[in-house]
Amino acid sequence: MADDINKDNLLEHISDIVNKYSESLKNTKDLASLNRLEISTLGRKSELTTILKQIKDLKDPQEKKAVGQQANFAKKSIEDLILKRRDSIKSDYLAGVESKEKIDVTIPGRRIETGHIHPITQMTQLCEDIFMRMGFDVCYPYAIDDDFHNFEAVNIPPNHPARDSWDTFWTEDDQIAITHTSSMQNRILTSSQPPIRVIVPGRCFRNEATDARHEHTFTQIEGVYVDKGINLTHMLGVLKEFFSKFYEREVDVKFTPDYFPFVEPGGMMSLSCILCNGKGCSVCKKTGWLEILGCGMIHPKVLEMANIDSNTYSGFAWGFGVERLIMLKYDINDIRYFYSGNLDFLKQF
Ligand code: PHE
Repeated sequence: MADDINKDNLLEHISDIVNKYSESLKNTKDLASLNRLEISTLGRKSELTTILKQIKDLKDPQEKKAVGQQANFAKKSIEDLILKRRDSIKSDYLAGVESKEKIDVTIPGRRIETGHIHPITQMTQLCEDIFMRMGFDVCYPYAIDDDFHNFEAVNIPPNHPARDSWDTFWTEDDQIAITHTSSMQNRILTSSQPPIRVIVPGRCFRNEATDARHEHTFTQIEGVYVDKGINLTHMLGVLKEFFSKFYEREVDVKFTPDYFPFVEPGGMMSLSCILCNGKGCSVCKKTGWLEILGCGMIHPKVLEMANIDSNTYSGFAWGFGVERLIMLKYDINDIRYFYSGNLDFLKQF
């Protein structure tokens, strides 16, 4: 072998290697076989490395230089080809993955059937929107509260006969499942300075027999408005505006005296019948009017109990049942549907 080592042989051998290598490279389809090819062509035991080692056996320095240059040139060009091939294998692979696993972000999402918002919540949110646009803040009641807030602070002292109007659920430690959202009046009046405009949507509870118009659990929205020079006409204006927005038509309102210990004068507000437009139907018992809420001018004692000077300030309050409003809006004849869990009923909203 040693005899064969001459410049021409070596140069020929180098060009053979480059040709052979370029051929094999074309058939290399993945990174693992490319790595194998790289080792066999450039590794320690490769033909090219053997040639590089043999250069020292050449006598003529000119020849050494020529063969050395050629061998290094071959090595460099093979390395370049490997780099390029590696890049193209990688990008071919990624292009394949991309087309197989392509995600079209413009396809509309799949609807997940997890239910929807309960009609009471939907309508409560509508009421909140309307009142907020009129400048009211929203606060929510405690479901369980104490005697002071549910009764005493709204002018219903212990043993007062008016307590009979609210069939109350008591807890074993004498707390109350709130009978009305008036339980928040004192907190609202003590925690802010007039002008005060707040609504309180919340769930209330009454220990009473249920029928088509009564539920033990229902939703009220309380309203409290206090400022200088406020009178009943302001209240009627605010509520007429609210109901016209809620029922999306012009409604009439009227006030009839009634008794609630926390308002003076107190009364019921009626709406012109939503179903017959005030002409008289079975729902309004041919009167053309629907009694819809309790309301009145806040009793001076309630203001004083919240340290508001009743000579300077006056205000009004109301409380209505959200279910009753919805029943009139959609002509629903039984309040018990709302908590029945009846999907045929709920899916209509
Ligand atoms: N809290 C009363 C009820 O539940 C309604 C009401 C609120 C009446 C505010 C007057 C003023 O029956």
